[in-house]
Amino acid sequence: MAVEKDEFFREVTLRICSSLQINIAFERAFEYLRDHFPIDHMFLDIPDKSLGATRRIAFASVGHRPPVEIVPLPEGVWEWLGGLRAPFILNASDADERIRTFAPLIKLEGCSDLSMPLRIEDELIGFLILRAKGEKRYTSDHMALLSVVVEPFAMALANALAHEAVVRYRDILLDDNRFLRSELAPKLGDEIIGGNTGLRNVMEMVQQVAPLSNTVLLMGETGTGKEVIANAIHFASPRKDGPFIKVNCGAIPEGLIDSELFGHEKGAFTGAVTEKRGRFERATGGTIFLDEIGELPPQAQVRLLRVLQQREIERVGGDRPIPVDIRVIAATHRNLESMVTENRFREDLWFRLNVFPIIVPPLRQRREDVPALARHFVMVKCRELGIAIPPAIVPGALERLMNYGWPGNVRELENLVERELIRHRGGQLRFDSLLSDDKGGEFKHVIEGKAAGHISLDEAMTAHISNVLKLTNGKIHGPGGAAELLGINPNTLRGRMGKLGLKSGRRTG
Ligand SMILES: Nc1ncnc2c1ncn2[C@@H]1O[C@H](COP(=O)(O)OP(=O)(O)O)[C@@H](O)[C@H]1O
Ligand SMILES: [Mg+2]
Repeated sequence: MAVEKDEFFREVTLRICSSLQINIAFERAFEYLRDHFPIDHMFLDIPDKSLGATRRIAFASVGHRPPVEIVPLPEGVWEWLGGLRAPFILNASDADERIRTFAPLIKLEGCSDLSMPLRIEDELIGFLILRAKGEKRYTSDHMALLSVVVEPFAMALANALAHEAVVRYRDILLDDNRFLRSELAPKLGDEIIGGNTGLRNVMEMVQQVAPLSNTVLLMGETGTGKEVIANAIHFASPRKDGPFIKVNCGAIPEGLIDSELFGHEKGAFTGAVTEKRGRFERATGGTIFLDEIGELPPQAQVRLLRVLQQREIERVGGDRPIPVDIRVIAATHRNLESMVTENRFREDLWFRLNVFPIIVPPLRQRREDVPALARHFVMVKCRELGIAIPPAIVPGALERLMNYGWPGNVRELENLVERELIRHRGGQLRFDSLLSDDKGGEFKHVIEGKAAGHISLDEAMTAHISNVLKLTNGKIHGPGGAAELLGINPNTLRGRMGKLGLKSGRRTG
């Protein structure tokens, strides 16, 4: 059947480029090619070096799908095929030795093949194969006509392979992303200790603010748990399935802050070899946690202010603003207000950040949480250190911990527990390296001072029990209660308190 070559080229190209799904495009091309060639099946095979075989990635057929999809290739055949450049005809009865070895592998018996190598920039990427029932069905005219469409077929195959790879990488990345997020999300053992006691007010504020999208400012000394609270806000918010991106403003070298926070375009500066999304862009749909915001240099403060006002960023070297849908949580251990007075922090930025301030109190102002925190860290650190049976804490030790001033707050307690576990591997935890701070010392002083004069055993006991009751906020019974700290039974303690005329004085609410 005579066909004009230009028209043939056009028609085949339109069909093979009509869908990103190679099987659909391939089917459409097949329907058209049937008018010009004898065909029962049409295959698109790619050489797979790692398999030592060709792999079928698309097919079209008038009848049933032919069974052979992966054809292992002997070394010699592999080289022969790899060197072919023009379309070639395969008949099972061919005199050529190589074709006769190859024919049974591809089940050529009783059929003819017209095969065309597809190359991009001279690299072999696959074969288009037309197959017809019967011997010697293809002629040199068929070969010439098929070679007219070698480029569109090669291009379509290359696109399909690239698309397949992109989809595969996307799936891998999505899977990685899900995995990493689940690793980041708070685990069962990660609960906030003291949420109902020392951090009760803080947690109430967390509950209030979490459902909204407003900026939150966390203030408190180092190690008080600001990051823990920032996490709690994010994971209690509607953005919990979005990213939680942390930036330590004090830890990024000044020259890199812009590109870290806002990203950069490819070629924006020497070394910007690829485009990079900044942390604000990465946080889109989620929360950005700006830790140690007080350390942000003046230049970056200006740019941060603009992000907060306009909710869009500009990449370094970029020429268009990119909208960002983010929630900002900032934290600092500094007094930002006095930094403003000293002109070290921009007042306008401070106003923007200070919409909903939450103060995380230092540990010495919530001593009642110390026993629970200590026990929590014993469990956590034993797991980390591979200690199967967590050692007990000796009774007087918890009292010592509660009396201490904790300048490094919860982090200091965490580190102390770890050191103690390592130092006294297997033994009971005494924490006797710890000196009580002034508060505890004061009480001791009273007792010791009096002891120099005349103090009865009852007086000493009264002073000591009231001291402990102050530490526990009047709690007698249960974990962190006075009985536990004193190492006696709660009923015994109550009895003794009765005799001494002591009330528990427990605060309610
Ligand atoms: N209420 C808490 N419950 C359990 N662990 C806590 C609590 N507060 C702080 N931590 C732990 O103490 C350490 C210091 O907390 P972090 O949030 O980093 O403090 P900050 O950011 O205020 O310096 C972290 O290891 C954290 O997990
Ligand atoms: Mg921190």
